[in-house]
Amino acid sequence: MRGFSVCWSGRALAAPVRVLGWVAVLTFSAMQLAGQATSGTLVLTGADRRQATSLNGEWASIVDPYFAGLFSFHHEEKKNGWFLNYKAKPGDPFPTEYDYAKAPKLKVPGDWNTQRDSLMLYEGPMWYERDFTYAPKEHTHVFLHVGAANYHSWFWVNGKKVCGHEGGFTAFNCEVTPVIQPGNNFVVAAVDNTRHEDNVPTLETDWWNYGGLTREVSLIEAPEAFIDQYDLHLERGEGAAIAGWVHVAGGAVGDKVEVAIPELGAHASATLGEDDRAALHFDVKGLQPWSPETPKLYKVELHAGADSIDELMGFRTVETRGTEILLNGKPIFLRGVSVHAEAPYRTGRAYSDKDAETLLGWAKELGCNFVRLAHYPHDETMLRAADRMGLLVWSENPVYWALEFDNPKVLAKAEQQLDEEIGTSRNHAAIILWSMANETPNTPARTQFIETLASRARAMDATRLITAALLVRAQGNTKIVDDPLGKALDVIGVNEYIGWYEGHPENADVTQWQIDYQKPLIVSEFGADAKAGLHGGENERWTEEYQANVFRHQLPMLNNIAQLRGMSPWVLMDFRSPNRPLVGIQDEFNRKGLVSDQGQKKQAFYVLEKAYKEETVGKAE
Ligand code: GCU
Repeated sequence: MRGFSVCWSGRALAAPVRVLGWVAVLTFSAMQLAGQATSGTLVLTGADRRQATSLNGEWASIVDPYFAGLFSFHHEEKKNGWFLNYKAKPGDPFPTEYDYAKAPKLKVPGDWNTQRDSLMLYEGPMWYERDFTYAPKEHTHVFLHVGAANYHSWFWVNGKKVCGHEGGFTAFNCEVTPVIQPGNNFVVAAVDNTRHEDNVPTLETDWWNYGGLTREVSLIEAPEAFIDQYDLHLERGEGAAIAGWVHVAGGAVGDKVEVAIPELGAHASATLGEDDRAALHFDVKGLQPWSPETPKLYKVELHAGADSIDELMGFRTVETRGTEILLNGKPIFLRGVSVHAEAPYRTGRAYSDKDAETLLGWAKELGCNFVRLAHYPHDETMLRAADRMGLLVWSENPVYWALEFDNPKVLAKAEQQLDEEIGTSRNHAAIILWSMANETPNTPARTQFIETLASRARAMDATRLITAALLVRAQGNTKIVDDPLGKALDVIGVNEYIGWYEGHPENADVTQWQIDYQKPLIVSEFGADAKAGLHGGENERWTEEYQANVFRHQLPMLNNIAQLRGMSPWVLMDFRSPNRPLVGIQDEFNRKGLVSDQGQKKQAFYVLEKAYKEETVGKAE
């Protein structure tokens, strides 16, 4: 059987790894594990479009605050760790102090915090285990696909390590072919959500540190040579042509790749070059561009040898012209709202189609054509819903607040998460903006760090716009947008809280804006807290009337910013945060939602809805 080379995204395996035949058993050095490097994972575009064996459901779970399942009392990595899923036998000359069969269950996907009161604030390692049966096929890769695991995670199949991953909001895939067996198998995961200074994000966030296997887990199959990444997009300019490329892992120069869009009678083929990538460019007559008004999706068939993927894709262009944002060549104003991946009603990390459709349904009710999916990459269910429902998306890498910007390891982690975000989600027509960061301190190290990310994002994807949410300084009644990072951005995002953290609502009436960049501006956050159902005077903080009053003073001010091309007030729905303890009002929720976590629309919702639907705020040109 011919060997194949698979490009791995893992930092520890930067060079292509040539796996000759199937007997290679993936082993990882203690260094990699103890060093918690991200290793042995690869990025798959459109993994959710592949046939999958779901591993969702109930997994056994063992809380392990001292990581005793992996490390000895002298902190050496155990060879007989809990990843072996050992079943004690009478007469064993040693004790076995764990038993998954007797352990309590956790639902996957799902954060552990909201599944058990005792786990609401738990930060530390958690063991997961489940059995599964499998019938491996000849000449077929089997990948363990993980939609996300927050924050550090390690996986073993049948007691053999298959991968390690760092980052809580991006999908990754582990090759399990060499260790999976016919019939009964078991998979063990260790997930540790402990925050660290050198993580991405770092110690401080204003959201709940939901830990665990927070998104779907499945097994997906692919033939020996398989499509691992691809990019198809409508070319900017007059004609209607689709351009892009398909990368085939394990392919060979000259192998054929085909793409077809049956509804348009379009078909193109190309062959792989030395880089295992086939470049495509083909006319598409009669294509209906994707837009919020007409979110047209086409079935797109990709074929490479024995592999095929049936995609569902919209095609549109986005670019800037001076201070305008052009969608399909026409100026557009982004009437948006910021959205955390917090599940409506049940709370906890959102993961389902229903969660996505509820949240984005409220955004549509608000009159939005745009959502800022803060502060980390959301999952494929949310992005597929945005594609279907016609909502433009600002997607964000979790470079949030004050990371260790002078630490090369932290840059490598941010790059890895950016690669995974773009590599996984680059074909969603809804996504028009890649945001590099949120509210980072204006220092030379930070600017260099994020400029590096912006260049990387542009090199990976020249079809979208690069942005970031910046802090704004004030001089008297003037807000000055002059953060040096603006030079690296296509669209400037700024957060401001006039009327909440900054003075009183009427301060907005006398605020001027000085923007040092002739680029489109999005006010990516403004707002105020309100407890749903709490009423009083419009100058009484925490009441719905106060929050609505902040919006009434903000909107005319924003309307006077000539180059304002979008806004995404903070935030669609109340969300859990440990920073918000005010009893009877916050109760560990950030209450800036226009909707409560129980679906109650606050007065401010209707103030914004009126402005959006009557289009009294924002100008596209
Ligand atoms: C910041 C930050 C948000 C936070 C918000 C707030 O702007 O970007 O993540 O939740 O302010 O303080 O409510």
